[in-house]
Parts: sequence; structure tokens; C-alpha cells
Amino acid sequence: MDNSPIGIFDSGVGGLSVFSQLVQLLPDENYIYFGDTLNLPYGNKTKEELIKITQNIFDFFKAKKVKAVVMACNTTSALTYDTLSPKYDFKIYPIVQTVAKEIAIGNYRNIGIFATQGTVNSHAYKKEIQKYSPNTQVFEIACPEWVNIVEKELQENEDSINNIKMHLDEMLVHNIDKIVLGCTHYPYLLNILTQFAPEELFINPARHFAQYIYQNLKENNILCEEKKHEHKIYVSANPKQFATASRLFYKVQEIEEIKLAVQS
Ligand code: DGL
Repeated sequence: MDNSPIGIFDSGVGGLSVFSQLVQLLPDENYIYFGDTLNLPYGNKTKEELIKITQNIFDFFKAKKVKAVVMACNTTSALTYDTLSPKYDFKIYPIVQTVAKEIAIGNYRNIGIFATQGTVNSHAYKKEIQKYSPNTQVFEIACPEWVNIVEKELQENEDSINNIKMHLDEMLVHNIDKIVLGCTHYPYLLNILTQFAPEELFINPARHFAQYIYQNLKENNILCEEKKHEHKIYVSANPKQFATASRLFYKVQEIEEIKLAVQS
């Protein structure tokens, strides 16, 4: 058993779509969530920039003595996990690599991926899914505007709705069996997406991901045994905006603003 906290991070409120699933499955754990709103969006940053950013976050979690870090961010999982994971002693769970295997089990003909530009350019989902299901065709489409729509709560704007519908139409021409919401911000847009396509079409990877983490912590015998379950939420900028934008997935009570050291 291990009562140390679990660290979980994303560029902003997106990772809370994973956090909320984890809290449901593992209510007794202690969590530290970091929303890197100062560096948001991650989707248009270079691999080098993202490695520095992620390293700072891992160092922050290391100082907090976490037992595991949940990369509730597809972009950093795709671009930094391979480089950084060998350098740290705690367990690290990357969302893309973890859920792609699960998605591949479905053996679909045509899978669509909506993700950030960085994730799409890395082809991480395509590579990982085809590793396990080589005959599945994977269509990756970047939706660079969607993170801002969620963070600034612009879901009701006509321009936002048109943009969401435009990317969906672009995807649907490929005769798609399932669409993976390959950025943790996108489940916040499900109520708009489902105005134009059936809900069963979409896969929100958060559930598979949380289930895997639960099983893995259990198998490694490092679940928390005390019943304290403390939740600490940190952001690097704009705590008020974070608190309102997060409402759909998590009711944030207290937020601490913190600037992480800049990596040279
Ligand atoms: N929500 C993150 C992801 O899953 C990052 C989005 C962004 O900041 O561009 O990729």
C-alpha cells in the first residue's frame, strides 16, 4: 500500500475529464492536479518546448513525493513520454499509449482521431493503433480552435458551433466507425458534437484510461489505504477562469496559483 498522492496534469481544464473518472474509481486516493494555464495551448508548441514544460511539471511532482503521474494530456504523452519517462522513478501513465491499445481491440475498419496539431503531426494514435490492429485505417484531424473554445467557454457562439460542425463533416466523409476525442478538452464539447452525430460514434478515452490506472495500481499493490482523500488543485495562471471553465467535470473548491521554475 502507498498513501502518497497521485499527480495529474494537463495544459488547463481538459485533464479534469480524466480526473473526474479517476476520482469515481479511486475515491480514497490523494490527488494533486496541475493545470498549466500559463503555457496553454500545448497543441502548437514544438517537441523541445513541450519537453522543457513537462520536465518542470515532473520535477514539481517529484518534490511533492507522488507515487505516480497521470499524463492527462494527449499532446505531451505523444511528444514527451518516450524521452522523459526513463528519467523518473515514479510510475508514469501516458494517455495516448494506454488507450490506443484498448481502442485497437475493437478492430474497427475506419477510426477518426480529433486531436491537437501536435498530436496529429506526431501520428502517435495512428502508430499505436496500427501496432495492434494493422488493418484499421486511422484518419487524424487537428482541431486547433477547440481548446480555446473550452477554456474561454465559447461553446454557445455561432462561430464555435460552425467550427465544430466543419471538422465533424470533414471527418464523416471517411465512413468512420468511431471518433476518438484525442484531446482531453474535447469531451467538454460532446453536447455540441452530439447535435450533429450520434453519441455512440464518439470515444472519450478518459474512462478506459482511468480503468487501466486503477487496475495497474491495484496489481502493483500501491493503492492508498487511508481515508483522507485530499485533492489539491494548482494552476500556473488565471485561477478564476479555470474554476468556471471546469464546472462540467469537477467542482473546484480551492485553487492555488503557482509558477514552476523555468528550465534553461
Ligand atoms: N488537453 C491537452 C491534450 O489532451 C492539450 C491541449 C492544448 O493545450 O493544446 O492534448
